[in-house]
Order: sequence, then structure tokens, then C-alpha cells
Amino acid sequence: MKTLNRDLQEAPKMYETENDIPQTGRAELNKLMNQRLADAVDLQSQMKQAHWNVKGPHFIGLHELFDRVDEAIESYVDMIAERIVQLGGIAEGTARVAASRSRLEEYPLDIADGAAHVEAVARALSTFGRNARNTINEADELDDADTADLFTEVSRGIDKWLWFVEAHTQAPK
Ligand SMILES: [Fe+2]
Repeated sequence: MKTLNRDLQEAPKMYETENDIPQTGRAELNKLMNQRLADAVDLQSQMKQAHWNVKGPHFIGLHELFDRVDEAIESYVDMIAERIVQLGGIAEGTARVAASRSRLEEYPLDIADGAAHVEAVARALSTFGRNARNTINEADELDDADTADLFTEVSRGIDKWLWFVEAHTQAPK
């Protein structure tokens, strides 16, 4: 049986394109963005996990908020995947690849109350946000202002959702 190599390849397959970013830069960007794509696919499924399983007195607010975060992350997944392809790469965004590559912690499956989900969601958003911010700098170093701009938009969005989630815990007692 053929085994899928889920590691990020040193020299990923690239398509020819008239895009003027040099091929070596596009290959580096491809690897960088496929790592973020795996994280984002994982993050999106974690938001649904929270949306489905949260319970407690703040149920409806958190249930609906986690669904909105999921929708936002779905759009980031699409933006990242499509930029990979625009630069001649292959977007590797299946659940299996995401599971093997994601740098996020495993989402706890046995939690129920709102505070526990708020904490778990905030941690996942924060981890992804940090990596997205690092990707801005890495894309800058590869002279790709457009990918840097994409991750600026993504990380700014993640910061907003982190605020929406963490605000549930920040009121003075
Ligand atoms: Fe739903």
C-alpha cells in the first residue's frame, strides 16, 4: 500500500507560472503556507468542536460565537489555500494532512462548561495567531509583500476573535 508522505517536502512539486516571484521563493512560500494551512484546518475543526459541545448558563452566546469564529477561519483556510495554488504550489488541506502536521495542541474532548471551552478556544486562537504573525515576517524576508499582507489580515482577524472569546473572562469580579 502506498504511504502518504505527510511531512513537508524539501522540494515540493511546483507548477510553472508566469507569476514573477522567483521559483525558489515560491517553493519556500509554498512550504510556509502549507504549514499554516494545516494549522488553520485543525483550528477550524476545533472551533466546531467547541460550538457543538459547550454547555452552561452562557450556552447560546458561546455556541453562536464559536460558530462565527469557525466561519471566519473557514475563510482564512480558503485564502491561504488559494494563495498556495496561485504561486504554483499544491494546497495540502485534507483533514488527514492537517492532523499529522498541525502545531496546535489537541483540543480537549471531555470539557463541557463555558469557561473551559473559552480557555481552550483562546489557547488555540493564541497559538495560531502567534504563528500567523511569524509568517508575516517570514514572507517579508522572502520579499512577498502580498503573502505578508494576507497573514496580516489573518492575524488581525484572529486577534479580534481572541478578544471576543477572552472578554468572557475579563470582567472585574
Ligand atoms: Fe451548528
